[in-house]
Amino acid sequence: MNKLKKHKLILSRRLNQNEELKKIASIENKTLQNVLNAFKLAKTNTHKKEDIIAFNNCETYRDKLLIDATEITYEIFSLDETALVQDICRKAASKEKWCRFLYYMVKNTENPNILEIGTNLGISGSYMLEAMKGKNGKFITMEGLPQLCSISAAQFSTIVSPSNFEVVQGLYDDTFPKVIEKDITYDLIFIDGNHKKEPTRDYFNALKSKIKQSAIFVFDDIYWSDGMKETWEIIKKDSNVNFSMDMYEQGIVVIDKNESLPKKHFNLHLSY
Ligand SMILES: C[S@@+](CC[C@H](N)C(=O)[O-])C[C@H]1O[C@@H](n2cnc3c(N)ncnc32)[C@H](O)[C@@H]1O
Repeated sequence: MNKLKKHKLILSRRLNQNEELKKIASIENKTLQNVLNAFKLAKTNTHKKEDIIAFNNCETYRDKLLIDATEITYEIFSLDETALVQDICRKAASKEKWCRFLYYMVKNTENPNILEIGTNLGISGSYMLEAMKGKNGKFITMEGLPQLCSISAAQFSTIVSPSNFEVVQGLYDDTFPKVIEKDITYDLIFIDGNHKKEPTRDYFNALKSKIKQSAIFVFDDIYWSDGMKETWEIIKKDSNVNFSMDMYEQGIVVIDKNESLPKKHFNLHLSY
């Protein structure tokens, strides 16, 4: 999608946003309301003291990475390439507002089990773990690059006990079949790695049966390519999906096994 089209689309969403928010607010579904509240809280600049402390911890970590000149090698992807941590962080880590959105969804979930596909340097992971502090939950995150796994795991252990998280290292073709075998069901699944049509669709299809009574799926970069756009359309239409929200940068779906309302779709805008 060219830039002009993108901005037109986002502008029309911003103009209709209040109406969309009212429609969502009128639906009595706990998981959908969690998404709505997290969206509203992520958009505001007023946060509780404990949340500001959590955000500052994560942004201090980001700042540290942004001046880190450690070289990372891409051998695992059969690439004869290297990149500096600071450049990887600048290009791949989720932006602050999107991280806050994840944070608030996790914070409002009792004993959350979370799966993240795409650890990178653990920026989004740090936010989710900050929100998990003091709760009984498990955060499983998957990454191919071994050096990024070590950096992230070291950071995560400054936030929660090692028993609350697991960084699964390896190519998803090898690790996903093992992760799916784990005896765990999830509240939130963040798919932020391998942004391609077939893998994204396959992860969703396999993970649909690995959720608690209800769950939130967050897909990053749904407009990244024609393939991702096609996958997002397929996911939205999936018969298990109750609610979907197109936020341009991300697509959110809620599956609630107890919900009987007909499927509903919303368009929102959180941030560029
Ligand atoms: C966009 S980054 C994740 C960013 C992270 N969630 C954050 O916001 O801080 C995606 C990560 O997925 C990893 N990745 C992509 N494809 C992969 C694959 N097929 N197997 C293993 N790791 C993969 C990349 O190495 C990269 O670090």
